[in-house]
Amino acid sequence: MAVNSGSLLLVLTLLVALSTLFDVSTALGGRKAKESDVGFKPLDPKDPKVVEVAKFAINEYNKEAKTNLKFQLVLKAASKETTYTLIIEASNGSILDKYDAVVSLNGNSKTLVAFKKQ
Ligand SMILES: *[C@@H]1O[C@H](CO)[C@@H](O)[C@H](O)[C@H]1NC(C)=O
Repeated sequence: MAVNSGSLLLVLTLLVALSTLFDVSTALGGRKAKESDVGFKPLDPKDPKVVEVAKFAINEYNKEAKTNLKFQLVLKAASKETTYTLIIEASNGSILDKYDAVVSLNGNSKTLVAFKKQ
C-alpha cells in the first residue's frame, strides 16, 4: 500500500500539534517551576513567606511519600495569583538534591499540588 505524501504531511502536522499542546498544558499545570511560564512573577527566594511555603512543601512531601528530606534553601520562586512554583534544595540523607514544587495557597491553608526531583 502506497502512502501518499498528503496523508504523511497530515500525520506529521498532527504529531507536532499534539506535542505543542502537551508542552503548553504541562507548563500551565505548573509542573515546571520556571519563571518564564506565562504570568508567573519572580519572587525573592529569601522572602520569609517564600521560605515558609517551601518548608511546607518539604514537610508535606515527607508525610505523603514517607521520606525524610531536609529543607536547605529556596533557589528560585515565582507566583501567579495563589499558586507558588519553587525550586528547593533539600538534603536526602547525605545527598543534596533540587526539587520542583508547586503549592497552592487558600487563605491560611496550603496544598501541595506537585513535587518532583529535578
Ligand atoms: C533519596 O535517596 C534515595 C537513595 O539515593 C533515593 O532512592 C530516593 O529516590 C531519594 N528520594 C528523594 C525523594 O529524592
